[in-house]
Amino acid sequence: MNIDLSNKVIVYTGAAGLIGSAACRKMYDAGASLALIDTNGESLENLSYSLDRSSSPSRLQLLSDCDLLSEQDVDKAIQTIVDRFGHIDCLINCHYPRTTDWGAIFEDIDINSFRKNIDAHLNSYFLMCQRFSKHMMKQGYGNIINFSSIYGMTGPDFSVYEGSEMTMPAGYAAIKGGISNLTRYLSSYLGPHGIRVNAICPGGVRNGQAPTFVERYSNKVPMRRMAEVDDVVGPLLFLVSDLSSYVSGVNLPVDGGWLAI
Ligand SMILES: NC(=O)c1ccc[n+]([C@@H]2O[C@H](COP(=O)([O-])OP(=O)(O)OC[C@H]3O[C@@H](n4cnc5c(N)ncnc54)[C@H](O)[C@@H]3O)[C@@H](O)[C@H]2O)c1
Repeated sequence: MNIDLSNKVIVYTGAAGLIGSAACRKMYDAGASLALIDTNGESLENLSYSLDRSSSPSRLQLLSDCDLLSEQDVDKAIQTIVDRFGHIDCLINCHYPRTTDWGAIFEDIDINSFRKNIDAHLNSYFLMCQRFSKHMMKQGYGNIINFSSIYGMTGPDFSVYEGSEMTMPAGYAAIKGGISNLTRYLSSYLGPHGIRVNAICPGGVRNGQAPTFVERYSNKVPMRRMAEVDDVVGPLLFLVSDLSSYVSGVNLPVDGGWLAI
């Protein structure tokens, strides 16, 4: 089934990442106008070129220098997008900032590093929701989608990391749990203004992880496999489109059944 997103103006943070680049490709092909935000300017340029090879694409706006913790930068981005496209239908928060020591086990996490991760990730999701919803309230409509995770909804099963270098950082539980419940709060607060707010909660996406991990993780999932990127993009498109026009406040698991057991 093809979803028609023509006339939709969608703002996407973390656009150049694993999920972002695949999602932006599908949304662009479905006719959307996209404002793409990512700190990785080079990857963003490459994504833009792969989406549309014309020298000045009329449905793309790149915003690589927007600091998502700066009110001024975010407000300036909103103004740029509105000047360019006239309105904003949807904000998708998908960026994934993390410090260089992100993989540290619980006992070794430095409190300052924990603080930095909360600030860069949870607090920037808050600020983006706040500034964009202010604009959407004036419009009288809007749609916000936050990327959470299965680990925003439940604790990790550490046995899946045994035998690999990987772990699940404590900061991720605090951040994604915060994003999932902030989403419920905002759905309640912004609903009367015609704004719906949802979160998507993917399970692990296959992306070159160690075979031991892939096997252990897959054995735990009812569907017996990790997610492919497109498994996540489909439900995201549902939340973006008018097919979900009466869906708000949901934390949608996209996890092969992980949260059901
Ligand atoms: N990949 C998974 O298995 C998985 C599972 C569950 C949830 N998620 C969530 O999905 C989202 C996307 O994950 P991904 O795997 O595509 O991550 P990724 O690391 O591939 O991409 C994240 C992107 O965010 C950008 N970014 C980082 N900090 C930024 C900032 N401050 N401002 C703007 N851009 C910034 C990075 O440059 C990168 O392009 C994240 O929120 C992640 O927590 C991912």
